[in-house]
Amino acid sequence: MHEKILILDFGSQVTQMIARRVRDVGVFSEVYPADVDEAFLRDQIKNKGVKGIILSGGSAESNIEAPDMEISPFVFLAGVPVLGIGYGMHTMAKHLGGEVAISGNQEFAQVHISVKGNSPLFATLSDSKSAEGHNQLDVCMNHGTQVTELPAGFMRIGFSKHCEIAAMSDEVRLFYGVQFHPEVSNTKQGKALLGRFVLDICDCAGDWNMADYADEMVERIREEVGDDQVILALSGGVDSSVAAVLIHRAIGSQLTCVFVDHGLLRLFEAKQVMDVMHENLGLNIIHVNATEQFMGHLEGVTDPEQKRKIIGREFIEIFQEEAAKLSNAKWLAQGTIYPDVIESAANKNGVAVKSHHNVGGLPDSLSMQLLEPLRDLFKDEVRKLGVALGLPEKMVYRHPFPGPGLGVRILGTVNQDYADILRRADAIFIDELRNTIDAETGKSWYDLTAQAFAVFLPVKSVGVKEGARVYEYVVSLRAVQTNDFMSARWAPLPYDLLAHVSNRIITEVAGISRVVYDISGKPPSTIEWE
Ligand code: XMP
Repeated sequence: MHEKILILDFGSQVTQMIARRVRDVGVFSEVYPADVDEAFLRDQIKNKGVKGIILSGGSAESNIEAPDMEISPFVFLAGVPVLGIGYGMHTMAKHLGGEVAISGNQEFAQVHISVKGNSPLFATLSDSKSAEGHNQLDVCMNHGTQVTELPAGFMRIGFSKHCEIAAMSDEVRLFYGVQFHPEVSNTKQGKALLGRFVLDICDCAGDWNMADYADEMVERIREEVGDDQVILALSGGVDSSVAAVLIHRAIGSQLTCVFVDHGLLRLFEAKQVMDVMHENLGLNIIHVNATEQFMGHLEGVTDPEQKRKIIGREFIEIFQEEAAKLSNAKWLAQGTIYPDVIESAANKNGVAVKSHHNVGGLPDSLSMQLLEPLRDLFKDEVRKLGVALGLPEKMVYRHPFPGPGLGVRILGTVNQDYADILRRADAIFIDELRNTIDAETGKSWYDLTAQAFAVFLPVKSVGVKEGARVYEYVVSLRAVQTNDFMSARWAPLPYDLLAHVSNRIITEVAGISRVVYDISGKPPSTIEWE
């Protein structure tokens, strides 16, 4: 059994970030609603390895005067250290006899706080020194509601200009409260601080890793699914592949994957997916080659959004047909990851964000239960899990590829000839990026770019090949560097690399007489051309 930190959630948008930071320091953590009862808490501490509890921040609507969720008083009697963050700190203060008051300003801001190094929560953590010689931390804080009177047994261990009690502790019972949010990246020492709580105060060993996570998830999936059959739409992308391999490890042949090849995949991609997932790892995969069906529906369609809709609709139709053949499948598995969950939650609140569903529309139309074993994980964690499960690193660390595939990289009308030309040009580009190592960083240019691909331009241009005049198509190379894909800069690829790629494409790919390099940043130009 693993040591574990229990995170009790009051509804903050960033609660999973706490879990993620705790996992980052090598300790397993689980998030539960804040109002779990005493029996649950007792069982967790006695039998499930819980060595500490973190109380999350609240939601935008959380109100300490009339709370939605009442926390069990047993949290403070359980004999394990407790850390309250923001609203969690206020709840701690109220429960233990302190005072909390609303001060109006609900804005998050980055501020300096002065902290006491004699508390083990802070020890030597420091971003700067105050005039009085205190260690200072740059933290992300909401001043809206504050602890105004400490509970008995507590002392103040941090303060800022506008917040007298920015951190408090009872060093005997090992209770800590921070007004700021250590889980967000604007709090520079946030990870280190959570590390101090988990490793030093809760005394966890920090020896948990992704292979352990895989084992724990396998147990959970087995418990949840029992003897039922599960179906999963496999795209070949990282998320659905990792979900498939994880579920397969748990329930073996009870999982059936449907892999729809729309004819808009990269060179040899379908074969690679089948080789790795079916031949090597033994997954049960229904491979549907629907190239003709997709090409038929895309014929003559030039509008990018229309193309996306057609590809999405056909995909769902084919998947549904296959699902209907497996009449006893009770579960629909998806590779939904945590950022997808946040995006759709934000959507419900009316905030405009792009909607990236894994298999848009499916859950409603098929009355199946959803199985989403990756929904607590961030992308880089999913990759680590994939490697721990035996997927090749080359597959797990691939650049993202859009669901509509080459359909949005062939400008205007899509047809099989264009797709074949583009596939070959794209493969040459990727091959050369992988093989060209940057001397300064020692990394390949593939790893130095977040996304790179070729785009097919259906315009003809004159060239001379083997002494003869040709009149053929143009390919543009696109390579970008970005962390969040919301903005991106074009990658400063070495001239020699560009020259070599261009030369290879023009000589090796019939139908291309000219190669250009896209030097547009996002914004204003999106990463994909359509
Ligand atoms: P843009 O082109 O909007 O792309 O700058 C940002 C990221 O999103 C990917 N992308 C898509 N992914 N379906 C997807 O699954 C789509 O329709 C789609 N459009 C863009 C793009 O590849 C990039 O990573």
